[in-house]
Amino acid sequence: MRAVDIIMRKRDGKELSREELRFLISGYVAGEIPDYQISAWAMAVFFQGMSAAETASLTEVMLHSGAVMDLSGVTGPLVDKHSTGGVGDKTSLILAPIAASLGIKDPMMSGRALGHTGGTLDKLDSIPGYRTSLSAAEFKHILITDGFAMTGQTADIVPADRLLYALRDVSGTVESIPLITASILSKKAAEGAQALVLDVKYGSGAFMKNPADAEKLARSLVDTWRAMGKPIAALLTDMDEPLGKMTGNFLEVEECYDCLAPEAATSHASLSADLMEVTLELAARMAVLGGKAANAAEGRALCEQALASGKPRELFMTNIASQGGDVEQFLSMRGNYRSPHRAEIAAAADGYIARIDAWKTGHAGVVLGVGRNRTEDPVSPTAGIEFHRKRGAAVKKGDPIMTVWGKDQASLEAALPRLAEAVEYSPAAPAERKLILKEIG
Ligand code: URA
Repeated sequence: MRAVDIIMRKRDGKELSREELRFLISGYVAGEIPDYQISAWAMAVFFQGMSAAETASLTEVMLHSGAVMDLSGVTGPLVDKHSTGGVGDKTSLILAPIAASLGIKDPMMSGRALGHTGGTLDKLDSIPGYRTSLSAAEFKHILITDGFAMTGQTADIVPADRLLYALRDVSGTVESIPLITASILSKKAAEGAQALVLDVKYGSGAFMKNPADAEKLARSLVDTWRAMGKPIAALLTDMDEPLGKMTGNFLEVEECYDCLAPEAATSHASLSADLMEVTLELAARMAVLGGKAANAAEGRALCEQALASGKPRELFMTNIASQGGDVEQFLSMRGNYRSPHRAEIAAAADGYIARIDAWKTGHAGVVLGVGRNRTEDPVSPTAGIEFHRKRGAAVKKGDPIMTVWGKDQASLEAALPRLAEAVEYSPAAPAERKLILKEIG
């Protein structure tokens, strides 16, 4: 085989075989096929797309480009959740202990904040002592004892994706549905998940800006995972406004702890109600795929009962200790682990909050120090935003909308005008927006 022939076949809209894809990907990982040929192939895929069978082949080939987590001996259904990313999206930290309390095992390998979206690992790293780079043996051990384990991807998991993603980033080929599908699913399969629940987000703060594109991505993900013989469910959820009442690293962990309070299952009035709704609907699908419930309604009831029992919060605390975190210190930091550089944003007009733009808020978060623009940049554990009012709230000029903490004074001052601009007002109450648009699969 020659790489150039495979590139030309894709350029001309032909379907590539698994052998051709293996030749390209393994040659690339081995350093035998250069970046410029893989860039040309990625661009051909961008324009010509891939069939479902081709996408499944690419996913399998990428999966086997490195190590695959050996979770043999772990009893219980292995079910994970993946979100396409957003602002204030912290559902993982709440649903993993809920699912674990039902007897599901959630092997969670997460990522870091990049651009306007937050990262689970950065949030967990804000807990003193908590370790997010576990060895394979530690990951498996904690998965068995706690029912979930949280770690970052190791260098030997799907090396093809690390190389390919960096290349896509600089060759204008990130937004290709088959390439996104293979990237996400190869990593999820490598971490050892059998069944998968997807939170495919749309809106200003999401990767996909409109529901139609999000649905195309969700269908591709669902079809490909099924082609690999594994069960999956996907929800399309709104990411036009940050989820919950906090964005930040420690701030979000704190919100999750509060949401795991036994009364959180039924308290829908709080500013975390949207977060809990998405979390419980995702957890309900995990219960179904894990064989604990016959349908989503039954799954949801089980998750609410679990939450009310207090068991998920206990597991959350157990996991902090298992991964090296200092539980006492964590509890004592709640409510006060904040940067000293603080300011308030007040309503600029009388009326209603029509929208708090997730994309603008996420970018302001990068300026504050919550997120990063380059993978090597540090993040601040104590920067972030607490929302006092969100979409639909009636406001009088001067009412508090957000408290904001910056990693330093200059960052805080740079972010404030951006945040003020993220809030839109209307004279009448805005129309309801559906939080969960539909289920695919
Ligand atoms: N997330 C991934 O892991 N890969 C992509 O290609 C896009 C989003």
